[in-house]
Amino acid sequence: MHRLILGIESSCDETGVALVRVRDAKARPELLAQALHSQIAMHQAYGGVVPELASRDHIRRVLPLTQAVLQQAGVALSALDLVAFTRGPGLAGALLVGAGVACAMGAALDLPVLGVHHLEGHLLSPFLGADPPEFPFVALLVSGGHTQLMRVDAVGSYELLGETVDDAAGEAFDKSAKLLGLPYPGGPALARLAEGGRAEAFKLPRPLLHSGTLDFSFAGLKTAVLTQARKLGEDLPAHTADLAASTQAAIVEVLVKKSLAALQQSGLRRLVVAGGVGANARLRAQLDAACAARGLRVHYPELHLCTDNGAMIAMAAAMRVQAGLARPTRDYAFDVLPR
Ligand code: KG4
Ligand code: ZN
Repeated sequence: MHRLILGIESSCDETGVALVRVRDAKARPELLAQALHSQIAMHQAYGGVVPELASRDHIRRVLPLTQAVLQQAGVALSALDLVAFTRGPGLAGALLVGAGVACAMGAALDLPVLGVHHLEGHLLSPFLGADPPEFPFVALLVSGGHTQLMRVDAVGSYELLGETVDDAAGEAFDKSAKLLGLPYPGGPALARLAEGGRAEAFKLPRPLLHSGTLDFSFAGLKTAVLTQARKLGEDLPAHTADLAASTQAAIVEVLVKKSLAALQQSGLRRLVVAGGVGANARLRAQLDAACAARGLRVHYPELHLCTDNGAMIAMAAAMRVQAGLARPTRDYAFDVLPR
């Protein structure tokens, strides 16, 4: 059993490092320390993530963060048993930094390394919290790059129930926010602006809401927001809060209704929400209310673990190790899987 597992996340614009301890095959792995550096301020001037800058910043941050984590936990580098890293999906250059550092550490310390799927990290992130779910459950994975509903029976046992056919939910937030002149990343900014707006002010489409499938589509919503913004023209500034609130309401309604449909179709009674959009307060409030009314349970990661972080990568590695599904390797000729 690999007991002390270091996890490194560098798929996009956050550098995250964390240390998890596995006691035995059964007990929930324990988060000993974590450190995170967000590049948001650096990319803000460009209105989005600049891949080249992201890679360079990961290089600058990853070793100091690793040192901070080991120091916090009082663990020596030589005590590590396994180094896990995000293998994809994500930005190729950014992923290569985490993979390169993990494999260099592995080679120098004669340790095995393990590539982790970024989305499995998000999916298992609620296990880091005070209220971990039990299997099986339906997972709603809503990030900047993905929107999926999954049936999760155990670690490694995932069945895709539905996904977006175009934009992800986070992308819908981000692109709409840009149209409203909000800074990157648009999701949190749009949510904040929406607090002062009326959700029923503008009629916006709920694409695929009644499709009968568990698939999503958000591209049309973005176009509708653009059309509405153009129609308002010079009056737009007076209506941005209302338009933000209406946009958020449209996205959230689709996510809530499809999640409930997935629970009903699968016969499962537990929902797990993960990924950056899982931090959205309206989404949480509406899911809480809808699930409470139906006697269903809903679990979220802690707020700060909704967006990218190293803890979820270390946790996913630990849970894979416990389940006997991990194939750690001493082959340090690493590759990454951007898509
Ligand atoms: O999971 P994540 O950190 O990165 C990906 O793997 O994509 O998710 C980032 C996404 C962005 O689109 C961001 O705008 C969105 O999550 N997001 C939010 C909120 N916080 C982050 N969207 C809506 N409301 C929020 N509070
Ligand atoms: Zn992510």
